[in-house]
Amino acid sequence: MIIAANLKTNFTRAQTSKYVDEVEKFLQTNNICEDVFVFPAASSLNTHNGKITLGAQNAYATKNGAFTGEIGLDHLDEFGIKTILIGHSERRHILGETQKMIAEKFHFYKEQGFRIVYCIGESLEVREAGNDVMMEFLSSQLEGIDLEYEKLILAYEPVWAIGTGLTPTLEDITSLHLQLKKKCSAPLLYGGSVKVTNAKEVLALDGVDGILVGSAALYAEHFCTMCEYAHNLDK
Ligand code: PGA
Repeated sequence: MIIAANLKTNFTRAQTSKYVDEVEKFLQTNNICEDVFVFPAASSLNTHNGKITLGAQNAYATKNGAFTGEIGLDHLDEFGIKTILIGHSERRHILGETQKMIAEKFHFYKEQGFRIVYCIGESLEVREAGNDVMMEFLSSQLEGIDLEYEKLILAYEPVWAIGTGLTPTLEDITSLHLQLKKKCSAPLLYGGSVKVTNAKEVLALDGVDGILVGSAALYAEHFCTMCEYAHNLDK
């Protein structure tokens, strides 16, 4: 299974390094061989040899150039980073990334052979409009994305569940995942208020191949426990 920690704008370089060391030690000691990803802030990227794969939360669709405030492929190459998160709702909604920009970024990093964790998710308003509207909306977030890309990992994260403590019911997650699986055969993660208290049951659901965790992953101990749950599930 795939267990991913999105650290967002948290942890300095020193804190990230301590966090990664702690999680790595746990995975080694307990012989956990799930796919574990950690996405630190850009300034905390580093080389890492071990069970954890470090990925970028974002990078511009360029090798380098005049894009003030952005990092590009060269900055990821420096640390051997070959995994990137694209389409996260905070980048769509807070930073204003359009589907066109997102698709361009996807295309660029696909050409570079990156593993791409691609996020989609609906607002509460869309969800309340019913299943058909919701599926149509989610499909629009897949526009311009190569769903056949062999290094694609899809993450379904309802926007209203991110950082709010709210989650869809387990039945809703299963139903949604099974519908998305018909569109795309890539591994499919669930994200949005996953915590140690609900991770085990979410991981066990049909159509769930892993989890993408934000706030709860900031506690290394909690994140390690979630990795252990996945390991014990033997899915
Ligand atoms: P959350 O964030 O776990 O804090 O809800 C998940 C995410 O944004 O990936």
